[in-house]
Amino acid sequence: MPSSQVAVLAGLGSWLPPRVVGNEEIAQRLDTSDEWIRSRTGIAERRVVDPGTSTVDLAVEAGRRALTSAGETEADAVVLATSTADQLCPASAPQVATKLGLNGVAAFDVNAVCSGFVYGLATGAGLIAAGVARRVLVIGADAFTSLVDPEDRGTVPIFGDGAGAVLLRAGDPDELGALGPFDLHSEGELAELLWVEAGGAKNRRSDDPRDHYLVMQGQTVFRHACARMAESARAVVGAAGWAVGDIDRFIGHQANIRILQTCAKQLGLAEDVMYSNIEKVGNTSAASIPIALADAAKEGALQPGHRVVMGAFGAGLTWGSTLLRWPDVIPG
Ligand code: COA
Repeated sequence: MPSSQVAVLAGLGSWLPPRVVGNEEIAQRLDTSDEWIRSRTGIAERRVVDPGTSTVDLAVEAGRRALTSAGETEADAVVLATSTADQLCPASAPQVATKLGLNGVAAFDVNAVCSGFVYGLATGAGLIAAGVARRVLVIGADAFTSLVDPEDRGTVPIFGDGAGAVLLRAGDPDELGALGPFDLHSEGELAELLWVEAGGAKNRRSDDPRDHYLVMQGQTVFRHACARMAESARAVVGAAGWAVGDIDRFIGHQANIRILQTCAKQLGLAEDVMYSNIEKVGNTSAASIPIALADAAKEGALQPGHRVVMGAFGAGLTWGSTLLRWPDVIPG
């Protein structure tokens, strides 16, 4: 394979579980209100999995739609970005691949929490550039509400469940849809700002059930999210030889509408360049960006040739960006 092969976005799909949980339903059982949630986050409702539905189920639905969108039935590898794998061990990607009929292909999870999809794209692009695979299905899927303490008004309103996926194929750097460059970062010293303390190898079982749920220092996370997403967008745009003003559409991680607005201000971007679907889905973690891509494409907010930046931020801390000129894809 020629060394100039890059990853090209060839298919796109998303899937949301059917159960809608509106702000009023949350306000009936926690000390909060529709007004507070809307004004502080921009979220009106989110989707939540029913018992028995898992991350693998969400990922399979989105993955199938991305394959159909690309007109493909095969892929050489499945990269699943998630921090809510069905089991602590093994990874969920092999189960997703099998359920999609992709028997025997390379399949593994990438865990960079809410930045996972951009990390997954970089991984998929790397497999293609190295000649390991010609078609990589990159899925971002999270049943993130499984990590949320049902009694915590600080996190319950924010998170939702869902999945989105793209099929990457080997192609030419000049094509519409060619991905890259990438800008990826982490800061492990700040892990405690947003984490689930127990359940892993360090503290398998805690007597305090709250240790098994997500704990978040919201305001500090907010500040880091704005600054890091803006910084990374500048870096990736510079590496591509674009100017910030060239960006037609910024598809950022949907964590909070005010984070996207602040990020736009920091970048000097018009607010309408920032796409947002957070009102309907909340923060779906690794699924956030591909669901936003699919919604934006369906609404006509992404047009072939548009210069698009994807910007992510998440627990870890992790953050990163990539970009592409939008291809002619019809999302499934
Ligand atoms: N309903 C009503 N009041 C609430 C509330 C809720 N759901 N959650 C918190 N409050 C209260 C707080 O207790 C506080 O009360 P006090 O002033 O009496 O102490 C007040 O509202 C303000 O809290 P604060 O935390 O300062 O609000 P905020 O404007 O920072 O908004 C978040 C809180 C969580 C929405 C915001 O910090 C945020 O979005 N942070 C980033 C989170 C994120 O993106 N995480 C994922 C990253 S991938």
